[in-house]
Amino acid sequence: MLQRFLQFLGLGLSLASVSRSAVLVDFQVAQPPPLPQDAEQCTIQILERTFGNSYGDPEIVQYTPPTDCGPVGSWAGISLNFTVTSNGTQYDRLGIFTFQNVEIWRTSTPEPTYDGIIWTYLKDVTRYTPLFSEPGTFILELDNIIETGLNGQYATTLHATFYASSAAHPPAPRANTIIPVTTLANNTGDDASVPPIFSLNVTVPQNAVQIYAELYASGNGDEEFWYYNTANEYLSDLPSGTTYGNGPFREVRMLVDGQVAGVAFPYAVIFTGGIIPSSWQPITSYGALDLPTYFIDLTPFVPVLADGQPHNISIDVVSAETDHAINDNWYVSGNLQVVTDPSSKPTTGKITVYDVQPYAQTSTTGSVGANGDVNVTVSATRSIHIESEIVSGSGQYTYVTWTQNLEYSNTQYYLDDTYVQNVAQTATGSFLSTHNGVVSLSDQFSYPLYINLTLLNSEGTEFSAVFDHSYNRNSLPSPFILGSTIAEHQYATGFFVISSEGNYGNGTNNNTFSYVDLKGNTYYRTVDAALDNITYDQISGSLATGNTFEFPTFNPLAHLSVTIPRLPGGRQTKFGN
Ligand SMILES: *[C@@H]1O[C@H](CO)[C@@H](O)[C@H](O)[C@H]1NC(C)=O
Ligand SMILES: *[C@@H]1O[C@H](CO)[C@@H](O)[C@H](O)[C@H]1NC(C)=O
Ligand SMILES: *[C@@H]1O[C@H](CO)[C@@H](O)[C@H](O)[C@H]1NC(C)=O
Ligand SMILES: *[C@@H]1O[C@H](CO)[C@@H](O)[C@H](O)[C@H]1NC(C)=O
Ligand SMILES: *[C@@H]1O[C@H](CO)[C@@H](O)[C@H](O)[C@H]1NC(C)=O
Ligand SMILES: *[C@@H]1O[C@H](CO)[C@@H](O)[C@H](O)[C@H]1NC(C)=O
Ligand SMILES: *[C@@H]1O[C@H](CO)[C@@H](O)[C@H](O)[C@H]1NC(C)=O
Ligand SMILES: *[C@@H]1O[C@H](CO)[C@@H](O)[C@H](O)[C@H]1NC(C)=O
Ligand SMILES: *[C@@H]1O[C@H](CO)[C@@H](O)[C@H](O)[C@H]1NC(C)=O
Ligand SMILES: *[C@@H]1O[C@H](CO)[C@@H](O)[C@H](O)[C@H]1NC(C)=O
Repeated sequence: MLQRFLQFLGLGLSLASVSRSAVLVDFQVAQPPPLPQDAEQCTIQILERTFGNSYGDPEIVQYTPPTDCGPVGSWAGISLNFTVTSNGTQYDRLGIFTFQNVEIWRTSTPEPTYDGIIWTYLKDVTRYTPLFSEPGTFILELDNIIETGLNGQYATTLHATFYASSAAHPPAPRANTIIPVTTLANNTGDDASVPPIFSLNVTVPQNAVQIYAELYASGNGDEEFWYYNTANEYLSDLPSGTTYGNGPFREVRMLVDGQVAGVAFPYAVIFTGGIIPSSWQPITSYGALDLPTYFIDLTPFVPVLADGQPHNISIDVVSAETDHAINDNWYVSGNLQVVTDPSSKPTTGKITVYDVQPYAQTSTTGSVGANGDVNVTVSATRSIHIESEIVSGSGQYTYVTWTQNLEYSNTQYYLDDTYVQNVAQTATGSFLSTHNGVVSLSDQFSYPLYINLTLLNSEGTEFSAVFDHSYNRNSLPSPFILGSTIAEHQYATGFFVISSEGNYGNGTNNNTFSYVDLKGNTYYRTVDAALDNITYDQISGSLATGNTFEFPTFNPLAHLSVTIPRLPGGRQTKFGN
């Protein structure tokens, strides 16, 4: 994902790997789609494409809804199956699925091995039923580069499975329309790069009565390890090249006509080439194949948005620095899931309470030791409170409240002449909207992230790390999207050497995962990996089915055909690159 590393690839790859003749089965720990397996199903292939040198050359196909699974749009659910193989050496790449100008899935690729990898991810996309009910353009942007030392192609297949509704499995509840807050490009993925702030004129149906906004956001380039970026006030206390500035706090904001409507504190997704690539095979970091999204209730803004005029909707990502600046770049997009009133008369109403500051309250403290230790803490609190009254064209009165309370803390420890680089970050929050006193959207989350990175030689070409992070989320994205509680804990370790005789790395990756949803579906998995082998795997719950893949076993190997890892601050060696 970071082009400027390509120049370093010559080294370390030519002697690449020792063949082990088994295809590695990569996966992200996640629940299978909570869809009725006993429903009639029909599967269509949406696209098949090998992404070789595909930079700026996405796959663009025309989609037509299937008619053999009951009336179009009446489905009980929809899932996608993205199956990919790759061999050789390649970086992880971002994958953006855009459908009818709406981003519907952001993924990234595991890095291949010499003998090849395969992965399948099954994703529930039922919430995008309004899009799947119409013919339209489907785009997969997967910008890959083939050049000396980088020969891995990604051979991809995407299928969609539609679950017919029946008396036992009613049609999935759905928004009436989904409005993109994207670049609207028809020839590439529709995510926008920020900074600067991304804005779009959006016209909402005048009979809109509820609007839920979904946000996609991930850091790239100098923002890939945003949680390792250091507050500007202390940057000069570190040797130059240690890391980037603009601090570690990131808030994703959505604004309506310049007013903040809601925010998200993002979960830190570590891509498979991040820090210790061998820690992320075969089990990727949580979120790497299915980046989390964030929902805000935009219904309080219906009285503003439903006037038939275009409104300026913006998405940006801001920091705790005094100018709120971030580095290049984040990819963002959004969509508005709109519920309309049966009446064609316009919705009216007014915002009655707007208690929102433009930015979070933040503080930065630090200490610099005589021995060169630098410890820096950035913390933030954020609250949003908006209330509105809404009268639909058919006369229904709704009083809406929308509250967000979030807290964030990040401490970086640069110790032992920066041989030790540890980060301890927590982001927690609680979102709640009520419509006439009934909970409409809720989200309680906690994303602790601890990384201890230790450099083992003066060049910084040998290092080890421990990753201890969790994704704990109890969320009801809207009244028509299934609520769930997810608790994932991942504890990974690894060691890596960058060497002209071939890079070498190893790793372990232990996970405990649980999923429970409001329909009573459950899925529990404890799965551990060491040195590419799955050493423990226990799956239970109502969604548990047999593993699709037999996990192969691997002999210990001397060298990996993996790329040079990406490190915080864009480093290749201890200081600078
Ligand atoms: C997903 O698709 C692949 C082929 O692309 C197929 O082999 C696999 O069985 C599918 N998995 C499921 C669960 O449908
Ligand atoms: C991986 O290698 C095998 C055997 O050489 C080949 O058939 C297959 O097409 C390769 N897959 C990709 C994605 O390059
Ligand atoms: C993409 O196509 C749609 C439908 O034809 C059109 O409204 C829109 O303006 C196009 N987007 C761009 C960026 O040209
Ligand atoms: C939105 O439309 C208004 C006029 O209707 C125009 O002045 C403004 O520049 C547009 N804004 C964007 C972000 O395109
Ligand atoms: C839309 O709002 C954003 C945020 O306030 C602002 O930066 C941008 O200039 C606005 N765009 C237009 C066309 O008014
Ligand atoms: C930084 O934190 C470490 C670990 O808690 C501690 O040992 C060290 O004394 C601290 N250094 C400074 C300058 O605060
Ligand atoms: C990181 O190191 C600190 C001591 O500096 C230790 O307390 C903590 O448990 C370590 N974290 C992990 C994830 O190993
Ligand atoms: C990884 O390699 C390092 C260095 O050889 C070694 O100390 C460590 O024990 C290895 N890790 C595992 C899980 O084997
Ligand atoms: C990871 O899992 C392995 C195998 O299940 C176990 O032996 C090891 O102790 C676990 N490590 C940690 C840190 O929990
Ligand atoms: C993987 O498991 C197999 C079978 O238990 C074992 O022979 C092999 O040594 C293991 N590989 C590693 C790298 O530990």
